[in-house]
Amino acid sequence: MELQEFTLDFDPKSFQKLLKETCDIITRTHSSLEKRKVFSAQSPDQVASLFEEPLPQHGVEWDQLLAKIEKDVIGNATLNVGPNFYSYVLSPSNQAGLAAEFISTYLNNNPAKWHLSASGVELEKLVIKWIAQFIGYDEETGGILVSGGSMANLTCLNVARNIKSKLNVSDKGLFGIPPMTIYVSNQVHYCVDKAVSMLGIGKDQVRKVPVDEQFKMDTHQLEEMIKSDLQKGLTPFCVVASGGTVNTGTVDPMEEIHDICKKYDLWFHVDAAYGGPAAGTQLAGEEFKGMEKADSMALDPHKWFYVPIEAGCALVREKAHLKETFSLIPEYLMVDKLANDNRTDFMEYGMQLTRHFRSLKIWMTFKAYGAAKLRKAIEHDILKTEYLEKKLKDLKEIEIISPARLSIICFRYVPQGFREDEEYLEHLNQSLILDLEKDGRVFVTGTNINHKTALRVCIVNHRTQQRHLDYLVEVILELGQKLHRKLSVKVA
Ligand SMILES: Cc1ncc(COP(=O)(O)O)c(C=O)c1O
Repeated sequence: MELQEFTLDFDPKSFQKLLKETCDIITRTHSSLEKRKVFSAQSPDQVASLFEEPLPQHGVEWDQLLAKIEKDVIGNATLNVGPNFYSYVLSPSNQAGLAAEFISTYLNNNPAKWHLSASGVELEKLVIKWIAQFIGYDEETGGILVSGGSMANLTCLNVARNIKSKLNVSDKGLFGIPPMTIYVSNQVHYCVDKAVSMLGIGKDQVRKVPVDEQFKMDTHQLEEMIKSDLQKGLTPFCVVASGGTVNTGTVDPMEEIHDICKKYDLWFHVDAAYGGPAAGTQLAGEEFKGMEKADSMALDPHKWFYVPIEAGCALVREKAHLKETFSLIPEYLMVDKLANDNRTDFMEYGMQLTRHFRSLKIWMTFKAYGAAKLRKAIEHDILKTEYLEKKLKDLKEIEIISPARLSIICFRYVPQGFREDEEYLEHLNQSLILDLEKDGRVFVTGTNINHKTALRVCIVNHRTQQRHLDYLVEVILELGQKLHRKLSVKVA
């Protein structure tokens, strides 16, 4: 039987046209970012109805498909690529990283094994070293690129659990051993709870240490909690310090936490997923002093290195600990064992086998801008947050709930005469968050701090300038006043 030639590929001319037109859509979107709303404010049903159709049996013409993408996909995308986005910890990414993603997606390499992606593996080793150098961590550190901060924390805590359990829990499981306990501040990112649950340790074994008035872990209480658990016959194994909390940008006291870990032989892990890159700056570096002593660290290039998502990094100081925890090689993946030429196979350092070629976008970001410019971008974000704080402090309708720390500030709208009416302020600010979303000109969300709902602004955005911050304040005041007029009439 002779098989006819068959491929999904287009002819070379059509392929070229497709790429060019895709790039045109991107540049058109990019040049109109300032004029566009950040959020389209359509309902889930409205957005779903744009795409709902039976499984297509036949392809459509490119022109038609690209037009649909430009109108309905981009038209309903939340534009965190633009300068008016201030929510969560989401960067706009960067243009060098975008080009890298284009190329790595084309190559479709899998840096699980060296022979599947020689450049991908070597670049991954290199960018892990560069990240460590940037933040002043041990450059010989072990590490692996993962999807983001949640997976980086899970990866590191799995190593911590295996190394500190003293029994071979990787083989034997946690059966019959006293509960292992882990210590975090009550401001820690919730992904640590999730990780501990997945690791079979159980969320009940997470000790939430109270914080001081600056939201830093109270290390006196930390030590008391460790002592109490030891007395009960439990097995304290790890303390997680936050290198920039998601709520308020607070950095825990690293030196003190390290000393306690040393004293009680505990694993010292830092969740620096958000704030880590700031450790490499003049402006904020001092705050992180002691983080360089951590046994492991989670840090997200897709946050404050402005790398396109997904890009997280798990650093484990002792490379051998990482490999010992994750290495498991079935026969069919041992095919090159006779090569004997010092290959690194990242499948032995983490959970994933098939992996995205993430290192290229990190490498291209470092190469295109250089560490000095990246430091400047991070410092610019910190200075912008301070500018915003100063502006907000001058407004009588605004109460600062948590001051500018790293690049986060939290505040609420407080109409004159309502300062003492907590119930009204809660309702007003929760509604204001929704009104801001519906309005769509800027994108700000909130959080809850000391039982107060607050608007939370996080600037990890090199595209945001001073004029955008002025605009942000203008929109918040406009919508705050409008909402208050509406609600206070109802109250009256
Ligand atoms: C401090 C901190 N840790 C962990 C995470 C989780 O990271 P990811 O969303 O990349 O999984 C975040 C996300 O904002 C964070 O701010």
